[in-house]
Amino acid sequence: MLVSEPKDNAGYIKRDLTDMLKFRDKKSLTDLDLRNKRVLVRVDFNVPMNEHGNITDARRIRYTLPTIHYLLNENCRVILISHLGRPKGKVVDSLKMDTIYKRLKEYCPLSNIYLADECIGSSVEKMVKKLKAREILLLENPRFYPEERENDVDFAKGLARLADVYVTEAFATAHRRHASTYGVCDHIEEKGYGFLVEKEMKFISNCIAKPKRPLTVILGGKKVEDKLDVIKYLIGVADNILIGGGMAYTFLLAKGYSIGKSVRDLSKLEDVRQYMKNAEASCTRIYLPRDVVVCDELEYPSKIEQVPITEINENHVGVDLGDETIEVYKDILSKSQQVIWQGPLGVFERQEFEKGTKEIATHLIENKIYTIIGGGDSAAAFEKFGFQDDVSFISTGGGASLEVMKGTLLPGIECLSDK
Ligand code: 3PG
Repeated sequence: MLVSEPKDNAGYIKRDLTDMLKFRDKKSLTDLDLRNKRVLVRVDFNVPMNEHGNITDARRIRYTLPTIHYLLNENCRVILISHLGRPKGKVVDSLKMDTIYKRLKEYCPLSNIYLADECIGSSVEKMVKKLKAREILLLENPRFYPEERENDVDFAKGLARLADVYVTEAFATAHRRHASTYGVCDHIEEKGYGFLVEKEMKFISNCIAKPKRPLTVILGGKKVEDKLDVIKYLIGVADNILIGGGMAYTFLLAKGYSIGKSVRDLSKLEDVRQYMKNAEASCTRIYLPRDVVVCDELEYPSKIEQVPITEINENHVGVDLGDETIEVYKDILSKSQQVIWQGPLGVFERQEFEKGTKEIATHLIENKIYTIIGGGDSAAAFEKFGFQDDVSFISTGGGASLEVMKGTLLPGIECLSDK
């Protein structure tokens, strides 16, 4: 248990971050010999789309453009591979790469870009052979093959045959040991990370390894399990942890409050109690909401009200922070030097429940507080409010950035060449 690790007088735990920091020993784009080479680039173009199949947020594509252009300037033949969604080893028409292909063509109007309808095999190999320097080939979704998630050796070898050099720009998938993110590296000599992965790793690792204090972490969102796990690693490292969104109700339940029909993770109650106990013996203060916005029914609420946490009843669904909590959280944030924010603080997609997330975001921006946003939902919230260009850094990775915060060296980086 981390809490038993040695603490200094202020209660900070000196964490061993050697693993996470090993990314610095790996080759980056500028360390690779790229001139005239065939380069396989694993990107994460798993972008959100609406019900009409239109891309709603293309940042994951745009952010890889500096690496793509760098490779084109090095006279490379660029082969891009990305998953889209979770098709479970079968071809799913709505998860084919054609929409991504069209967007890529808009972003790279001066390059010839081709779309393959497979990932491996003789027809793709022929397309690669025909590819000229400064041209791009986008492969089909590797998750149409069960072998991708199984990290199958032959599938990985099939991918490796397409290229001389491997580059990963898929920060958001670098925590997966799949054939295209990990296994392929066993079969390619020269491999490194691109500019996006480098930037992501530097921003997040610096915040954890050399935090400017007070460091405050905001944890919200619906995916309770992943984020609860990271708290264990933040105790003794962060000064404050502000809990909100779907996360809050598991904490309140663990403290004995009624949470009505709000989202919860019953399997984590004991862990949560232990985290709160551990935090008390460290420098970290965990803050829970004092009041919340509740409704009777999420889909078509007939009654929305604000209640203190002592008055949540069995018919209530918690949907946002209450005003008093927003003020307390703002006050803590005003005194913070660095903030990491993972997960929205309420059901921000609905205007009636966006207040907590929006007010806290506005406060961070207006007060120019250094903030790193992680996770697709928090990024979508900033996008919805039009704040995406005003915040210090928005990570493209949800699960991946949580893994970095735990101090892990992501498998998709571990498998790269040493400098
Ligand atoms: C993400 O959206 O978090 C990444 O693209 C990884 O997707 P996955 O969780 O389906 O592996």
